[in-house]
Amino acid sequence: MFKRFRRLRMNATLRSLVRETTLSMDDFIYPLFAKNGEGFKKEISSMPGVYQMSIDEIVKECGVLQELGINSIILFGIPEVKDSVGSDALCEHGIIASAIKAVKKAYPKMFVVTDLCFCEFTDHGHCGILDMEHESVDNDATLEILAKQALVHAHAGADMIAPSGMMDGMIEALREALDSEGFINLPIMSYSTKFASAYYGPFRDVAESAPSFGDRKTYQMDPANRREAIAESVEDEMQGADILMVKPALAYLDIVRDVRNATSLPLCVYNVSGEYALLKAAGRAGVIDYDRVMMETMIAFKRAGADIIISYHAKEVAEILRRK
Ligand code: PBG
Ligand code: ZN
Repeated sequence: MFKRFRRLRMNATLRSLVRETTLSMDDFIYPLFAKNGEGFKKEISSMPGVYQMSIDEIVKECGVLQELGINSIILFGIPEVKDSVGSDALCEHGIIASAIKAVKKAYPKMFVVTDLCFCEFTDHGHCGILDMEHESVDNDATLEILAKQALVHAHAGADMIAPSGMMDGMIEALREALDSEGFINLPIMSYSTKFASAYYGPFRDVAESAPSFGDRKTYQMDPANRREAIAESVEDEMQGADILMVKPALAYLDIVRDVRNATSLPLCVYNVSGEYALLKAAGRAGVIDYDRVMMETMIAFKRAGADIIISYHAKEVAEILRRK
């Protein structure tokens, strides 16, 4: 006797009764890119639908997002002036601090996550202070300015900080700094397993953060490594991270499952710029059913074990879920 699997597929209501994974707008965080100016909104050619925006436009956009049921954003900043240590990121009047304050003032319920890194703020485009001798980033010196930047975000009113620089010891250093100034309830979502990926290409256009020399392989992970990928996330849990992350998402769903099985912390995936650009380009070329491929991709993230999805598709997902 064989099993008749098809019995439970015979109509839509039954299929939804037995569906194992679902998507909700509660799962999504939408990325926004803040730049100086007023009334400024510039689309990025490799990422149709993604813009650099001045802070007043970011605030307007938050209204649109809440209307769509998107209540969490992750902020990136593009400063007017870059220097060797990323001073704009350490200043309470810098682009990120100003954006946080403006959003929280206009939309107090918008949950504001901040990307905590230096690559957008340094003139060399690396994720911290350079160690010239090794032509790399000085890990421990960078921890000190990361702690400073975290406090700037915290004082400006950030709801959660998300360190993305892959420095060793960053979670411990940040937790200590936040606690020492009373921010004991400010959560840290670590970009805990982040690969040195070519999928970040379009992001570096929108964030103006491509490294001026070399690459990020001395701090971001080798895409070939699975055991190390798990260890990176487990280590961040031990240092006190509240939420873990795997990034990129689509080519790393095995790692998402591995990390899911290795920890009980909430897990986020970052559906990165290159993944978004691929679907957009294929959709525009008319070679895929864009909406269906996109939604299938989102479900795959959840099925692999993600609780939270950072995605440039979040607004499109909201519109599709609303129509259903
Ligand atoms: C900064 C940062 C990057 C992304 C998020 N935070 C780029 C990088 O590490 O080069 C990538 C996001 C994307 O590609 O959408 N450290
Ligand atoms: Zn960085």
